[in-house]
Amino acid sequence: MNMRKKIVAANWKMNMTVGESAEWVRDFLLELGDIRDVDVVVVPPFTAIAKVTESLGSAQNIKVGAQNMHWERSGAFTGEISAALLRDLFVRYVVLGHSERRQLFGETDEIVNKKVKAAHEATLKPIVCIGETLEQRDGGKVEKVLSTQLRGSLVDLDAKQLQETTIAYEPVWAIGTGRNATPAQAQEAHAFIRQTLREMSDESVAEKIRIQYGGSVKPNNARELMSQPDIDGALVGGASLEARSFAEIVKAAREE
Ligand code: PGA
Repeated sequence: MNMRKKIVAANWKMNMTVGESAEWVRDFLLELGDIRDVDVVVVPPFTAIAKVTESLGSAQNIKVGAQNMHWERSGAFTGEISAALLRDLFVRYVVLGHSERRQLFGETDEIVNKKVKAAHEATLKPIVCIGETLEQRDGGKVEKVLSTQLRGSLVDLDAKQLQETTIAYEPVWAIGTGRNATPAQAQEAHAFIRQTLREMSDESVAEKIRIQYGGSVKPNNARELMSQPDIDGALVGGASLEARSFAEIVKAAREE
């Protein structure tokens, strides 16, 4: 039995107005209140971050995250947001290297690594996404892809920074498709990721790092996925847009 606290995050992507966000928080708190036994992170679009924080009020165990950031501290980067600007909004986590950013916006492991380092410097906790495409899976390249992305995205982190990084294993073929990895497939990938983390650091650091699964997590498959020994939570897209279904997923983490 590992001692890692589960971490479940709601990745709203490019959805949710300010008004919808406030309603979502109200509904979610009615379902669950301020929970302590699972780390819950709400990741709205930038435009709704302030409203989510305000709506959470005294529910201080529920943290707010951002979906991306730039690695520079400030300056002439029109359209970008820095870690300092996120901290100004009381943001605590930041999702980096999501496959949509890698595939649609050309983010490489090198870019992700710059962002991960900048996040740590600003004491934001990164959630670093990695995962293979269907073509890579069918070509037998899962381990190679995961190892390359993991090592490339986490270059030059010290043990403390590594421990405060969450990894999200998100097979690209399972994102938004309704086709989740089976618990056995996910566990196999998570065990490989933890083994790679051991090689990159040591046993005690690797045992502390939380690895979320993401890709079509729903209330009806969450419990089985999160009961696997190396699955320490979930990064939830579609099913997080509805407060009640996200609350069900958090409850599934709690019962594990
Ligand atoms: P999904 O997205 O739950 O809609 O598959 C997960 C993600 O992209 O983080």
